[in-house]
Order: sequence, then C-alpha cells, then structure tokens
Amino acid sequence: MHSAYRDVQETKERDWVNEMTESFDVKLVEQAKYYTPDPSYREHAWTQNYTQAYEEFLADPEEFWAKIARHLEWFKPWNKVREWDYPYAKWFLGAQLNITHNCLDRHIETHRRNKVALIWRGEEGEERIYTYMKLYREVMRCANGLKRIGVQKGDRVCIYMPMVPEQIIAMLACARIGAVHSVVFGGFGVNALNMRINDADAKVVITADVAIRRGKTIQLKTTVEEAIINAPSVEKVVVLRREKDQPVELHPEIEIDFEEMMNGTPKECPPEVMDSEDPLFILYTSGSTGPPKGIVHTCGGYMVGTYYTSLHVFDIKDNDVYWCTADPGWITGHSYIVYGPLAVGATVVIAETTPDYPDPGSFWRIVQDLGVTVFYTAPTAIRMFMKVGETWPSKYDIRSLRVLGSVGEPLNPEAFEWYYKFIGDNRCPIVDTWWQTETGMQMITTMIGERMRPGFAGKPIPGIVADVVNKEGIPVAPGTGGFLVIKEPWPAMLRTVFKNDERYRKYWETIPGCYTAGDLAVKGHDGYIMVIGRADDIIIVSGHNIGTAEVESALVSHQAVAEAAVIGKPDPMKGNTIKAFLILRVGHTPSDRLKSDLIYHVRMTLGPIAMPQEIEFVEKLPKTRSGKIMRRVLKAKELGIDPGDISTLEE
Ligand code: WT7
Repeated sequence: MHSAYRDVQETKERDWVNEMTESFDVKLVEQAKYYTPDPSYREHAWTQNYTQAYEEFLADPEEFWAKIARHLEWFKPWNKVREWDYPYAKWFLGAQLNITHNCLDRHIETHRRNKVALIWRGEEGEERIYTYMKLYREVMRCANGLKRIGVQKGDRVCIYMPMVPEQIIAMLACARIGAVHSVVFGGFGVNALNMRINDADAKVVITADVAIRRGKTIQLKTTVEEAIINAPSVEKVVVLRREKDQPVELHPEIEIDFEEMMNGTPKECPPEVMDSEDPLFILYTSGSTGPPKGIVHTCGGYMVGTYYTSLHVFDIKDNDVYWCTADPGWITGHSYIVYGPLAVGATVVIAETTPDYPDPGSFWRIVQDLGVTVFYTAPTAIRMFMKVGETWPSKYDIRSLRVLGSVGEPLNPEAFEWYYKFIGDNRCPIVDTWWQTETGMQMITTMIGERMRPGFAGKPIPGIVADVVNKEGIPVAPGTGGFLVIKEPWPAMLRTVFKNDERYRKYWETIPGCYTAGDLAVKGHDGYIMVIGRADDIIIVSGHNIGTAEVESALVSHQAVAEAAVIGKPDPMKGNTIKAFLILRVGHTPSDRLKSDLIYHVRMTLGPIAMPQEIEFVEKLPKTRSGKIMRRVLKAKELGIDPGDISTLEE
C-alpha cells in the first residue's frame, strides 16, 4: 500500500490550476430568484444586520475577533490577536486556554449545569441523555483513564468509533489532557486506517467492538486488529464493548476495556493549560495528489471560530435542540457536533442512524420525538428525501424546526426548494454553508434573516474575506467563474499539514496571495457565490471527499492491476460516483468476476465510501508526454463533452 502510494504520488504531482483554467469559462445566466425570511428572524438573530457586521469587521478585523473571543474563558489573555507571516498565521498569541473548559466547566458554573448537552439516539429508538454535568464527569473520567494508560500532552490518539456518546467523550478527554486526537471515520477500511495511524504515529487507538448500521453489526475491532499490524507506534488499544451479552474477547497484552480504563480513576481532572497555538487535533482529508493530508488545527483560533459560527450562522439559542446528522469522524462533526455547539452550551442530538433505515422517515421521527429546532444535513440526503417524496416528512410533526442547514457539496436549486417547502414549511431559513476540513469553520453562507438565493451558498460571513478569482488572483467580473479563494487568514484555519509543511504552503502559493480552496465558483452580480465543485482530482461522493489518488493506489495494490485512473461521474443522488479505468497486468483477463473482486478489494482497503461504481478495462490511458494521466480527458469522453486543451496529450 505505501509503495503503491509512492508510485501514484510521483506520477501525479501536477499543477491543476494551470490545467483547469483553459477549459473553464462559465457565464452565469442570472435569473435572480430570492426567498426572504420572515423579519422576526432578523430581529432575534445574533447577527441582525449582515452588511453592518461585515463593515464592522472590515473597519477593525482584529477587534472584531477579539470581541468574540472575550465571550469565552481564557486562563491567560492574549497579547496579540493575530500575526500574519505569510503563509503562516497565529491567533490569540500568548493566550492560554483549554477548549473543554469552555465546552464544559464554563457551563457547569451556570444555569446550564443541568441542561441536556447530548441526546443520543440508536437505530431502534434507544436513547441516552447526558446533561452538561454528566458529560463533564465522564470526560474527566476518560481523561484520567487515558492518563493512566500513559497518554501525555502532545501524544496522538486515534479514535475509530461508531457514533456513540463515548466517541465524543473520547475526543473531549484527549483535548482535556492536551493529547491530539485523530478521528478516523468508522466507515474506513484497514489500509485507510493503517495509513492514518502511521502518519500520525498514534500511541493509542480507541475503538469499539461494533458499529450498528441498517440493523446489522459491523465489526470495528477486527479492522483495528489488522490495521495495527504494521503500526509500530501503537502501544494500547482501548475497546468500548457495546455487546454486553457476549463481550468480545480482549488481548490483554495490548487491549483494554474502555470502562475498565476509567474505573477507579479520580473524579477530577483539571484541564491541561494549552497555548493558543498548541495543536488540538489532526484530521485527514483526501489529497488531490498522493496520500491523505493530516490537517492540523490548533486550540485558540479554532475554538473562537467554531464558537462564533455555531452561534451566528445557526443562530443557536439556549432553548434550541440542535441536530447535525454528520458523524464526528468528519470535520463537520468536529466543529458542529462537538466543539462549536458545546462551546455555545447547546443541546446536541446525535444519532447512530441512516436517513433511510428502517424507512425514509427515520430523520423526521427523531425531529418530531426530540423537538429538533436547528437541523444540519447534507444535499445528498436531501436529494434522497426528494426522490422518495414528501409523504415521508408529512407523516411527522416537524413544526419545531426553525433553522435548516446544508453542507458538503452544492445544494442545487431544486433540492433547496424542496427542502425549503417540505421540511422548512416555507418558513425556515436555509443556511447553505461552504467550508472545508482545512478551514475548520464555516466560511460562506447566507446569514439568518438575509434573503436567500437557491443555488448560491451566499457571501463570506463577517470575519472572512473570500472571493472568486482567476489564476493570477484577480477577481473575476460578476457573472463569471473562477477559483474560490480566501484572502486573509482566519482564526480556525489549518496551521500546517502534519509532517508535510510543503503541502501546507501550496495552499497559499498556488494563486498569488490567496488560500486556494480547490473549488470552482461563480460570483453573481449581487456578490452571492455559487460553488460549482472541485477543480482538482477530488471527487465528492455523497458529500464525502475522496481522492482519485487514494482509490487508484488501492486498485493498483491489487495483483491484477497495472495502472488505474479514476474519475467522478455526476449522479443525481450521490453528487458523483466513481468510475475506474484499468489496465490489467499481463496474464489477467477482463471479466465481471474480476470487476467485483476489484470493487471488493477497494471496499476492504479504503472502506465502502470509496468503492467504484463502474469499472472499465482499457488498453491505454490518455497521458501527457511526461506520463501524467489526463483524467479530464477520460471524463470528457465519458460524459461526451469537450475535453478542452489537449495539446499536451501524448500521441
Ligand atoms: C469540500 C470540502 C466542510 C464540511 C464537509 C466537507 C465541498 C462543502 C459545500 C457547500 C458546495 C461544498 C467543497 C469543499 N463543499 N460545503 N455548501 N457548497 N460545496 O468537508 O470533506 O473537507 O470537503 O466540500 O468542494 O471544498 P471536506
């Protein structure tokens, strides 16, 4: 696997900005259609006037952020809000804090002490409830347990768990003691997990026996067992045993029971004093070339950025019931299930559930039962709901909903309208939030109370300077397309790529003076931004970010495959599906059997989310004279569109 990565990486370093621009020229036909929310939304919103808030930010960016940061508790105040030493930024310099103090202790001291922090829902409707007090206690027990097994400040801990409260408790426990968590989504397979454990040099892996999905149990611990075979950094594996009737057996040399680890530890665990710029976590995201990148986020700025957006974008109030349907294994879960909403003191719903199991009413049943008021989900789920029809939500009383959100990929106008009408009752504002693992926090949206424009995420939120530019960094004329960039550093931005600072610098060096997001976008005449999709080799499948390089290297690691190229094909439900073009090694012949073997191979290596839907065996792949595969030529051919400039194509 690792050597395969190297091959892929070497053949694929390329400059996608230059490759893309020739073939990208979008002219927007503007048919301005807006939805205006009821004025009461604006009246009560945390940000009541977008334009005014944005101007306030521009007038004094540092004071804008300092004002927000002062709402949180710091052990020691900062002596400087921001330091920008291009391309490196630091925020709240000299300050000391612990994010869990703000997510827990800060509330324990107030009326929120007995407020519900977490409501967990299982597939069968089981419920577990944590008040802020209870969560605080459990986090401290877990933190003390981790200390007991040797975890220290700065150590990396890999969390590979299903969506249960313990997953969040483990994250917060790491943050409590200054350990750096690296959460790996429970749907990833052996090699994907192994690569992430090794890259981070994780000392401890926290997992569970099983995850539950669509009525079936999925073995997680067995994946961990395989994934740590070539992972010398791992000293201990902590196992949450959910199956009480027949508890899974543990290997005492390396494995320890989650409960046992915490039992008998002291009740108190004072928060570790962290410097504002100390790392808080690493989270891997697909690279457009080569292996996934370990995005590094730090304590102070990330806390301020996620706190601010949770409050102002979702407009969370003390009596809201907030539900984000993502998994904490993605950045959406880190920022908008765990850190942001808890810093705000919200009541957060988490559910180990899928939108269509046991039936397509599963989400609306939860909204009804728990009285969810703020709801955040992905376009792929909305499109699925659209397909099965509005009879499903209409079976439930979902009138508690007040604010709707969307994230992960473009929310197309049809999906926006359906969401607005059938879930939002023609009344709830929709915040279509554009951001990334790298940005840590939401960056572009339409703030509550502002008029919404279907198909357009909106404008940069106050505090953020975003634009659409050409490859020289010059803003495009309204109505035309270009690259989505961020022009000024922001508090929750990534600080580096773990062990690969060169890759970090590339974000800021691709287009002069800008952070290049990797997305193509169009700017409307009203300044609203429409995000079109990735400009690079990342494919977004059901809202999950998948690197072509990662899938190709998994395919090439199969004995039958000599060369692989994968592309994304537009799909009405999933956004995209993956199609692979493969050259077989001598001695292997194309067959349907081999196709299904290869798909299974990717499933086991990377996990179900990265499985190609289609495989085509080919004799040759289109390449440049220097040997780089031209995926856009494959894609254009597949879709029957103009391949753009092919002058570099080899004969
Ligand atoms: C990529 C980042 C950030 C949480 C989930 C994904 C796409 C994200 C939107 C949106 C259009 C969006 C972009 C971005 N994306 N939100 N509202 N409209 N596209 O995080 O896995 O780091 O993926 O998701 O292409 O670059 P991620």
